[in-house]
Amino acid sequence: MSKRKLKKGPIITLIAIILIVILITILVNLYKYYTSLEYKLGKVGYNEKEVSEIIKLDKKYIDYALNNDYDKYLISLAGQKYLIWKKYDSYVSYIKKKYKSGQIDFENVVSTVNAKTNYDAYTHTNLTDMNKGYAILVNKYYSLPDKYAPDDVVVMTNLYAYPNNSIRKDVYDAFKEMAKAAKEENITLIVNSSYRTYESQKRIYSEYEDKKGKAYADSVAARPNFSEHQTGLALDIFTPGAGMNNFENTDAFKWLINNSYKYGFILRYPKDKENLTGYSYESWHYRYLGKDLAKKVFDSGLTFDEYYAYYLDK
Ligand code: DAL
Ligand code: ZN
Repeated sequence: MSKRKLKKGPIITLIAIILIVILITILVNLYKYYTSLEYKLGKVGYNEKEVSEIIKLDKKYIDYALNNDYDKYLISLAGQKYLIWKKYDSYVSYIKKKYKSGQIDFENVVSTVNAKTNYDAYTHTNLTDMNKGYAILVNKYYSLPDKYAPDDVVVMTNLYAYPNNSIRKDVYDAFKEMAKAAKEENITLIVNSSYRTYESQKRIYSEYEDKKGKAYADSVAARPNFSEHQTGLALDIFTPGAGMNNFENTDAFKWLINNSYKYGFILRYPKDKENLTGYSYESWHYRYLGKDLAKKVFDSGLTFDEYYAYYLDK
């Protein structure tokens, strides 16, 4: 009898230990589950597939998902290469305004907001950051200081330009180097329009406005203080016998789009990018950025407006 009694004690103790271990394991697992990212994201409203994608994202997206209401655009937006985090709310607002239904073009959403063309032209203007050297941005959202005039403008000779053209010295040097290189391939480049004062830009814009109205004028010409020509960093380049209407079909144009970046120039208002640059396609308008930056912008395939927003607007 006493032998049996002796055996019961350890068995009960063992069972009790096992039960406690099982209970602790269950409690630990419950704790882990209820404090997990997966559980918390699920609570916000994300489904299993969305949760598995969100937990792979950068911490800022995860924090955003945890601390805000369910956002059905988050994963698609987070996948956009040129997303600028501080503009996140603007992307969402733009989607809600622009896409009442149908497929959302997220790449277009990001580029539009980055280039600011989600706002009407001239309604949200900032002063251009003039400390950026040749990388200054001037468009319908960034204005030069009133009546800005560069102080290193030189007159161009008739070897390189039609009469009455002048440009900033470094741009002239770069253009001469480019024109000489083109000449070696039997291509003649000639500048048709270059530095414009505030007054001359005003005259050009007003002429278009008087003849064809404001909307047309805005599609082809900048308002004074908003033109790259006023910076002394832009050139309208033609070749003898071709002008605005047919420059695009010339060998000179083909040469420029493939080579101008090597000399510091980029095509500033490309075809099919009107919604980002704010201007009709201009095969003749080249903007000087300096060789390094011109190559980077060229390689990126972005308009300068988008490139500036993502890489330079710091
Ligand atoms: N044509 C360009 C946009 C200008 O007027 O500056
Ligand atoms: Zn131009």
